[in-house]
Amino acid sequence: MKWELKNSLILIGYMGSGKTSVGQRLAEKDKLPFVDTDHYIEEQQSCSIKTIFEQQGEEAFRAMETDCLHKLLKEERQRVISVGGGLPLREENRSLLKQLGLVIYLKAEPDTIFERIRGDVTRPLLQTDNPRKKIEEMMACRESAYLKAAELVIRVDGKTINEVTEEIEELGRK
Ligand code: S3P
Repeated sequence: MKWELKNSLILIGYMGSGKTSVGQRLAEKDKLPFVDTDHYIEEQQSCSIKTIFEQQGEEAFRAMETDCLHKLLKEERQRVISVGGGLPLREENRSLLKQLGLVIYLKAEPDTIFERIRGDVTRPLLQTDNPRKKIEEMMACRESAYLKAAELVIRVDGKTINEVTEEIEELGRK
Protein backbone atom coordinates (compact mmCIF):
# COMPACT_ATOMS: atom_id res chain seq x y z
CA MET A 1 0.00 0.00 0.00
CA LYS A 2 1.23 3.47 -0.82
CA TRP A 3 -0.32 5.55 1.94
CA GLU A 4 1.61 8.75 2.43
CA LEU A 5 1.64 7.97 6.09
CA LYS A 6 3.61 9.99 8.54
CA ASN A 7 2.69 7.35 11.04
CA SER A 8 -0.13 4.87 11.59
CA LEU A 9 -3.34 3.66 9.96
CA ILE A 10 -6.15 3.44 12.51
CA LEU A 11 -9.44 1.55 12.23
CA ILE A 12 -12.45 2.64 14.27
CA GLY A 13 -16.07 1.51 14.32
CA TYR A 14 -18.68 -0.33 16.31
CA MET A 15 -18.06 -3.74 17.89
CA GLY A 16 -18.10 -6.42 15.22
CA SER A 17 -17.41 -4.07 12.31
CA GLY A 18 -14.24 -6.04 11.47
CA LYS A 19 -11.57 -3.63 12.80
CA THR A 20 -9.34 -6.32 14.26
CA SER A 21 -9.57 -8.78 11.35
CA VAL A 22 -9.12 -6.10 8.69
CA GLY A 23 -6.33 -4.48 10.70
CA GLN A 24 -4.45 -7.76 11.01
CA ARG A 25 -4.79 -8.41 7.28
CA LEU A 26 -3.60 -4.91 6.34
CA ALA A 27 -0.65 -5.17 8.70
CA GLU A 28 0.35 -8.56 7.23
CA LYS A 29 0.15 -7.24 3.68
CA ASP A 30 2.12 -4.09 4.43
CA LYS A 31 4.57 -5.78 6.80
CA LEU A 32 3.70 -3.35 9.56
CA PRO A 33 3.25 -4.14 13.23
CA PHE A 34 -0.37 -4.51 14.36
CA VAL A 35 -1.85 -3.32 17.65
CA ASP A 36 -5.38 -3.78 18.93
CA THR A 37 -6.09 -1.48 21.90
CA ASP A 38 -8.29 -4.09 23.65
CA HIS A 39 -5.51 -6.69 23.48
CA TYR A 40 -2.94 -4.11 24.54
CA ILE A 41 -5.01 -3.29 27.64
CA GLU A 42 -5.67 -6.96 28.39
CA GLU A 43 -1.95 -7.66 28.31
CA GLN A 44 -1.09 -4.66 30.45
CA GLN A 45 -3.73 -5.56 33.02
CA SER A 46 -3.21 -9.34 32.70
CA CYS A 47 -6.97 -9.88 32.53
CA SER A 48 -9.85 -9.83 30.06
CA ILE A 49 -11.96 -6.81 29.10
CA LYS A 50 -14.93 -8.64 30.64
CA THR A 51 -13.12 -8.92 33.99
CA ILE A 52 -11.92 -5.30 33.87
CA PHE A 53 -15.53 -4.15 33.39
CA GLU A 54 -16.73 -6.45 36.20
CA GLN A 55 -14.03 -5.61 38.73
CA GLN A 56 -13.08 -2.00 37.94
CA GLY A 57 -16.02 -0.67 35.94
CA GLU A 58 -16.37 1.04 32.58
CA GLU A 59 -14.85 4.39 33.63
CA ALA A 60 -11.61 2.69 34.68
CA PHE A 61 -11.53 0.90 31.33
CA ARG A 62 -12.05 4.19 29.46
CA ALA A 63 -9.10 5.72 31.33
CA MET A 64 -6.99 2.71 30.29
CA GLU A 65 -7.93 3.35 26.66
CA THR A 66 -6.72 6.96 26.84
CA ASP A 67 -3.54 5.84 28.59
CA CYS A 68 -2.95 3.27 25.85
CA LEU A 69 -3.18 5.98 23.14
CA HIS A 70 -0.68 8.17 25.00
CA LYS A 71 1.74 5.24 25.16
CA LEU A 72 1.34 4.41 21.46
CA LEU A 73 1.92 8.04 20.55
CA LYS A 74 5.11 8.19 22.59
CA GLU A 75 6.50 5.15 20.78
CA GLU A 76 6.39 7.00 17.43
CA ARG A 77 6.14 3.88 15.28
CA GLN A 78 4.27 3.36 12.06
CA ARG A 79 1.73 0.54 12.40
CA VAL A 80 -1.85 -0.56 11.89
CA ILE A 81 -4.02 0.04 14.97
CA SER A 82 -7.56 -1.16 15.67
CA VAL A 83 -9.34 0.43 18.61
CA GLY A 84 -12.21 -0.59 20.89
CA GLY A 85 -15.65 0.51 19.69
CA GLY A 86 -16.13 3.07 22.48
CA LEU A 87 -12.69 4.65 22.33
CA PRO A 88 -13.48 7.47 19.83
CA LEU A 89 -16.28 8.77 22.08
CA ARG A 90 -13.89 10.82 24.22
CA GLU A 91 -12.83 14.07 22.62
CA GLU A 92 -9.31 13.67 24.01
CA ASN A 93 -9.09 10.26 22.35
CA ARG A 94 -10.22 11.63 18.99
CA SER A 95 -7.46 14.20 19.14
CA LEU A 96 -4.89 11.53 20.07
CA LEU A 97 -6.09 9.33 17.18
CA LYS A 98 -5.56 12.15 14.70
CA GLN A 99 -2.04 12.66 16.04
CA LEU A 100 -1.37 8.93 15.62
CA GLY A 101 -2.27 8.84 11.93
CA LEU A 102 -4.98 8.33 9.35
CA VAL A 103 -8.30 7.29 10.90
CA ILE A 104 -10.72 5.09 8.91
CA TYR A 105 -14.26 4.36 10.10
CA LEU A 106 -15.58 0.88 9.23
CA LYS A 107 -19.29 1.58 9.05
CA ALA A 108 -21.92 -1.15 9.34
CA GLU A 109 -25.69 -1.38 9.67
CA PRO A 110 -27.08 -2.64 13.00
CA ASP A 111 -28.37 -5.85 11.34
CA THR A 112 -24.88 -6.69 10.09
CA ILE A 113 -23.47 -6.21 13.58
CA PHE A 114 -26.23 -8.20 15.23
CA GLU A 115 -25.69 -11.17 12.89
CA ARG A 116 -21.95 -11.09 13.50
CA ILE A 117 -21.93 -10.85 17.26
CA ARG A 118 -25.07 -12.61 18.42
CA GLY A 119 -24.21 -15.08 21.18
CA ASP A 120 -20.85 -13.42 21.92
CA VAL A 121 -20.30 -13.26 25.68
CA THR A 122 -16.99 -11.39 25.63
CA ARG A 123 -18.51 -7.93 25.08
CA PRO A 124 -19.91 -6.74 28.41
CA LEU A 125 -21.99 -3.90 26.98
CA LEU A 126 -24.10 -6.29 24.91
CA GLN A 127 -25.06 -8.69 27.69
CA THR A 128 -28.66 -7.47 27.81
CA ASP A 129 -32.11 -8.98 27.20
CA ASN A 130 -32.41 -7.22 23.86
CA PRO A 131 -28.96 -6.86 22.27
CA ARG A 132 -30.46 -5.98 18.87
CA LYS A 133 -32.14 -2.88 20.36
CA LYS A 134 -29.04 -1.98 22.37
CA ILE A 135 -26.86 -2.18 19.25
CA GLU A 136 -29.19 0.11 17.32
CA GLU A 137 -29.37 2.68 20.15
CA MET A 138 -25.63 2.70 20.82
CA MET A 139 -24.78 2.98 17.14
CA ALA A 140 -27.11 5.95 16.69
CA CYS A 141 -25.52 7.69 19.73
CA ARG A 142 -21.99 7.02 18.52
CA GLU A 143 -22.30 7.87 14.84
CA SER A 144 -21.39 11.55 15.18
CA ALA A 145 -18.30 10.77 17.29
CA TYR A 146 -17.13 8.20 14.71
CA LEU A 147 -17.63 10.70 11.89
CA LYS A 148 -15.77 13.40 13.79
CA ALA A 149 -12.86 11.06 14.46
CA ALA A 150 -12.47 9.67 10.93
CA GLU A 151 -11.01 11.04 7.73
CA LEU A 152 -12.40 8.19 5.63
CA VAL A 153 -15.52 6.03 5.89
CA ILE A 154 -15.75 2.52 4.43
CA ARG A 155 -19.06 0.63 4.36
CA VAL A 156 -18.60 -2.99 5.34
CA ASP A 157 -22.10 -4.49 4.97
CA GLY A 158 -22.09 -7.60 2.79
CA LYS A 159 -18.32 -7.47 2.30
CA THR A 160 -15.71 -10.00 3.35
CA ILE A 161 -12.63 -9.11 5.38
CA ASN A 162 -10.57 -9.44 2.19
CA GLU A 163 -12.87 -7.14 0.24
CA VAL A 164 -12.72 -4.43 2.92
CA THR A 165 -8.94 -4.79 3.13
CA GLU A 166 -8.61 -4.46 -0.64
CA GLU A 167 -10.88 -1.42 -0.66
CA ILE A 168 -8.64 0.30 1.88
CA GLU A 169 -5.56 -0.64 -0.11
CA GLU A 170 -7.19 0.68 -3.27
CA LEU A 171 -7.83 4.03 -1.57
CA GLY A 172 -4.17 4.12 -0.59
CA ARG A 173 -3.11 3.76 -4.23
CA LYS A 174 -5.14 6.78 -5.39
C1 S3P B 1 -16.52 -1.62 23.51
C2 S3P B 1 -15.97 -2.33 22.46
C3 S3P B 1 -15.05 -3.45 22.68
C4 S3P B 1 -14.30 -3.28 24.00
C5 S3P B 1 -15.29 -3.11 25.12
C6 S3P B 1 -16.18 -1.87 24.93
C7 S3P B 1 -17.48 -0.53 23.19
O1 S3P B 1 -14.09 -3.49 21.61
O2 S3P B 1 -13.42 -2.21 23.95
O3 S3P B 1 -16.07 -4.27 25.21
O4 S3P B 1 -17.75 0.31 24.07
O5 S3P B 1 -17.95 -0.49 22.03
P1 S3P B 1 -14.44 -4.03 20.12
O6 S3P B 1 -15.07 -2.89 19.39
O7 S3P B 1 -13.11 -4.38 19.56
O8 S3P B 1 -15.34 -5.19 20.27
